[in-house]
Amino acid sequence: MKTFATVAAFCLARLVAGAAIEAAPENDPLTNWGPMEFVGPAFVGGANVTLKGDAKSIYEQLLVLNPEYNPQEFPEYRAKTAELEKRELSKRNIICDVAGTAVPYANANCAEGDRYLRRLNGYCRAPAGPRACARVSCSNQCGMFLCNDNSYPIDVWCGNIAGDYKDISSRCWESGNDWGWYDTLKGQVFRSIWNTIVVHQYC
Ligand SMILES: *[C@@H]1O[C@H](CO)[C@@H](O)[C@H](O)[C@H]1NC(C)=O
Repeated sequence: MKTFATVAAFCLARLVAGAAIEAAPENDPLTNWGPMEFVGPAFVGGANVTLKGDAKSIYEQLLVLNPEYNPQEFPEYRAKTAELEKRELSKRNIICDVAGTAVPYANANCAEGDRYLRRLNGYCRAPAGPRACARVSCSNQCGMFLCNDNSYPIDVWCGNIAGDYKDISSRCWESGNDWGWYDTLKGQVFRSIWNTIVVHQYC
């Protein structure tokens, strides 16, 4: 009886410790996040505007400012997009085992966020860190975050985050559970001054 009680107490302690580890804020990079700010022009040759929201909402706000908005018409967009296309897939600095739940049916569910990020001619801003994130996209349970460990805010070309999603996906994508009937994805990639996280979200 005494042994049983000891074992039971030990198991309970392990369970509590396990739960504590899962919930410990220092292991969850997403304890401090808010909406994203976008900085970029609505018109070719125009001044920067600052808008708040996720990639889809920002694209729609740009269309309200300029119903003819088409990123391809901006020389900077064409240059940055060409640059991004040459960027090599990152094999390093990727963590797949980040806190949080993986996105189910990730290829399908993340596609919308990816598409809107690629349509933005401008910069996605993350607030001053360390460990501060901006949710740049949330579509169909697929969350994408731009995170900042610097003590100052950072502006990162939005297309970079779509590129990061591609890198995380190529490295961390899993073909599904034991029954293999859906694909899942979560992960984090570290870049020069920022990091990007893809994880399940209720949007
Ligand atoms: C717009 O903002 C970006 C990002 O902060 C900056 O690099 C760029 O110089 C700004 N452009 C203008 C026209 O102010």
